[in-house]
Amino acid sequence: MNIARAVAIIAAFISSLFRTKDISTLLAEKEKGHQLKKALGAFDLTMLGIGGIIGTGIFVLTGVAAAKHAGPALPLSFIFAGFACAFAALCYAEFSSAVPVSGSVYTYSYATLGEIIAWIIGWDLILEYLLAASTVAVGWSGYFQKLLNGFGLHLPPVVASVDTPEGVFNLPAFLIVLLITWLLSRGVKESARLNNIMVLIKVAVVLLFIVVGVWYVKPANWTPFMPFGWGGVFSGAAFVFFAYIGFDAVATAAEEVRNPKRDLPIGIIASLAICTVLYIIVSALMTGIVPYPKLDDPAPISLVLQVAGQDWVAGFVSLGAILGITTVLMVMLYGQTRIFFAMSRDGLLPRMFSGVHPRFQTPYRSTWLIGVIASALGGFFPLNKLAELVNIGTLAAFTLISIGVIVLRYSRPDLPRSFKVPFVPAIPLLAAGFCIFLMSQLPADTWTLFGVWLLIGLAVYFTYSRRHSTLRAHN
Ligand code: ALA
Repeated sequence: MNIARAVAIIAAFISSLFRTKDISTLLAEKEKGHQLKKALGAFDLTMLGIGGIIGTGIFVLTGVAAAKHAGPALPLSFIFAGFACAFAALCYAEFSSAVPVSGSVYTYSYATLGEIIAWIIGWDLILEYLLAASTVAVGWSGYFQKLLNGFGLHLPPVVASVDTPEGVFNLPAFLIVLLITWLLSRGVKESARLNNIMVLIKVAVVLLFIVVGVWYVKPANWTPFMPFGWGGVFSGAAFVFFAYIGFDAVATAAEEVRNPKRDLPIGIIASLAICTVLYIIVSALMTGIVPYPKLDDPAPISLVLQVAGQDWVAGFVSLGAILGITTVLMVMLYGQTRIFFAMSRDGLLPRMFSGVHPRFQTPYRSTWLIGVIASALGGFFPLNKLAELVNIGTLAAFTLISIGVIVLRYSRPDLPRSFKVPFVPAIPLLAAGFCIFLMSQLPADTWTLFGVWLLIGLAVYFTYSRRHSTLRAHN
């Protein structure tokens, strides 16, 4: 083979990796039997966002974050992680407002940055949503068992948790994922309505905690303010980043939104702003009421109220936390199935998963597949490790998206974008910088597992997806 031919083959291979979907075809591509029902508006999306954001992060992970990472400086960790999310959210909104079809940034990057980048982003998002559902289910199980214990009921330790020496399985975490999967497979609108009610309850219990808790703060508990130094504040930020995940799930619902160009940016930014304010207040109160070393508990918010002598309020808050965490689970599973749906529709994952149920109009096969995997992971894996993996996968996806915004401003200035990130390239660069910095704060074994996940993803891409891509015919 002569050199010119070898170069041509390599060039063709590289260009096929970066093949893109045509945007107008994409928007027109409403294949028969592959359409989702348009049922959601801006209010539903903001509720979907809050539903996805406030959950295990604030109700459970804050305890460990205060005790082991940041101490009373935990609000600083939340502020730092909040900045990273705010910048990334702006980039996310630009992406999602331009191509309002199912699959969010995965789909947009496919139309603009090329198949291999879209695959990596989609593969990261699978890690995010799938493991987030499992993580959240484990957090749910903690509060659920706390409530059962209040009635004198105790699960056998072997099926109560994997974090104890006797424990091998987390039965409540396993079952709650299957229950939510069943609900989602029955249809979007029913799930969104249920979500709205639960979100109102969740925000109400957070406000109840604030209104009651504020009277029990002892400023002495805030000293020393930074027992683990700035290092602790930053590793705490990388850990509590989990608490913000969820606003991006709003973007994954694009195909089911009535007016996506206007409603998606509103949904993403409004839900993130509301949650950030609540987190800063809650974390300041928690560390002000109870000395930080004592906060390492599976249900720290209840614990804080019990220490304040407010047992009744603690009971209400536990109940609200259970409902609130349930909505997060719903959003995570929902987002995951829609990304899976989009990747399958493009041929990158087996085609059978994009089939829509004739009566409920939901991608029921992918919903069940994801539900079964997430429930098993929630049953067998510990909370903190799951959360760290979710964080690294999400931060990686956000980094690619932020860089993608800059690339597209120069390579595709013509694309219609109803929402534009201000101060490009400064804001996308800040988003990518914050995300990479937070990734660097996560432990080495999390990086190893993430590397393994990426390698599996590339293996699947080169052995299956590349050959089955619907774009293959055109290249
Ligand atoms: N942000 C979500 C939570 O805290 C994932 O549970």
